[in-house]
Amino acid sequence: MPVRERMKPSLGAVRVLEPDPILDPIAEARKRLIVALDVPDLAAAIELVNRLQQVCSWFKVGMELFTAAGPRVIELLAARGHSVFLDLKFCDIPNTVAGAVRSASALGVRMLTVHTLGGPAMLEAAQGALSGVPHPPQLLAVTLLTSMDQAQCRAVGLLRAPGAQVELLARLGLAAGIRGFVCSALEVAALRALTGSAGVLVVPGIRPAGAHAGDQKRVAAPADALRNGASYLVVGRPITQAPDPAETAVTILAAMAAGL
Ligand code: C5P
Repeated sequence: MPVRERMKPSLGAVRVLEPDPILDPIAEARKRLIVALDVPDLAAAIELVNRLQQVCSWFKVGMELFTAAGPRVIELLAARGHSVFLDLKFCDIPNTVAGAVRSASALGVRMLTVHTLGGPAMLEAAQGALSGVPHPPQLLAVTLLTSMDQAQCRAVGLLRAPGAQVELLARLGLAAGIRGFVCSALEVAALRALTGSAGVLVVPGIRPAGAHAGDQKRVAAPADALRNGASYLVVGRPITQAPDPAETAVTILAAMAAGL
């Protein structure tokens, strides 16, 4: 693996070797690809992870799998050295969400989601719940689901264009002290401008050329999402429902590398 020597400020004169994103873009892409384990139970999750673990390092556990398998799936992924993103999109009264954020943090996940539509007080409570947590996960505020287009937004009374709505919701998150957001590739450049380099921007709705959009509405190809400023890409069905998930993941990593 091509590496570069880097002086890590916190380590003084200690030299660390890490993959060079220019010399080894595939290694860099691996660090930014999150596979959504949207499967019905623990057995299906294990089977998929067994097929993908040589290629992928991040896995997202969402409401389907967590509802079926509970914290056990997170323990299992962590024991194998994988990074876990718990995507339960908490959206409830502030006190309840703060408790849920504390509970999720105790599971050892590296990222977790709340939904911005819970409002400013809830977002503040979620961020506040992490103060005092020793190694806090990255809190991500979901802006607008990538499955929502203008018509879906209007139906629930959100009359702004999706781009403007996403920006409004991200500003609420920022005001609450949150620095991580989930948005589509269509809004990620605007959010990158808003958050600067400190922002952690996670983009689902990724569809490689020729892949079915399915229920997703605001979609983009992997390289475009990265070029627009995404920190991480979330890919579910294009990988998990492929005849050979590992082979498809490798193809997606190559596409991502082209966008780095
Ligand atoms: O299968 P697909 O690639 O569409 O999966 C996308 C994943 O990202 C799903 O697990 C979905 O829950 C999640 N997600 C999303 N849109 C958001 C937030 C999360 O699609 N705004």
